[in-house]
Amino acid sequence: MKIAVYPGSFDPVTNGHLDIIERSRRFCDKLIVAIAQSPSKKGLFSIEERLDLLKQAVQDLENVTVTHFSILLADFVRKQKASAVIRGLRAVSDFDYEYAMYQMNAEMCPEVETIFLLASKEYSFLSSSILKELARFGRNVENYTPTVAGKALLQKLNKTSNEVEKV
Ligand code: COA
Repeated sequence: MKIAVYPGSFDPVTNGHLDIIERSRRFCDKLIVAIAQSPSKKGLFSIEERLDLLKQAVQDLENVTVTHFSILLADFVRKQKASAVIRGLRAVSDFDYEYAMYQMNAEMCPEVETIFLLASKEYSFLSSSILKELARFGRNVENYTPTVAGKALLQKLNKTSNEVEKV
């Protein structure tokens, strides 16, 4: 059984994340989407809220499960008996960080391969922070997020859908 872990902050999940999930689930038997509880990255949504949004977003994808972790990624991956970590690469700017993380994980967990998928071009500029910023200024982000996440974002930032202007 080939198990892969797709880790991230998912604060909140975007269509860019879903694109990576859809594509990577085709080459593994089980894909574990794992929300990292990172002390260095303060989120807008709680871990429980992110879990709920992600679960709704992937509910029709049968070999995908969603969970969270608060330990080192390498330890989590080993615990799950996974053989691969999936990461999305959007632009050259992602490379330095991803390369450093790949090297460190390879050192700690040599039996696990990191697989990088290039973001589809329509999502190559997306990030959860950019969408939060747009929503904060009243823009509708529904073209870039699963519907539940777009609604949750507007609610969290206290906007109603009729107040917002479509991007
Ligand atoms: N489409 C859209 N956005 C994408 C994307 C895609 N395909 N791929 C990445 N992004 C965005 C995310 O929305 C996120 O945006 P934000 O910064 O505005 O929140 C940003 O890119 C960063 O991506 P993410 O994949 O969420 O990574 P991260 O840097 O927040 O966390 C972990 C990476 C989860 C792997 C890391 O925090 C981790 O492993 N933590 C556990 C501790 C650990 O083991 N650290 C590593 C030591 S080597």
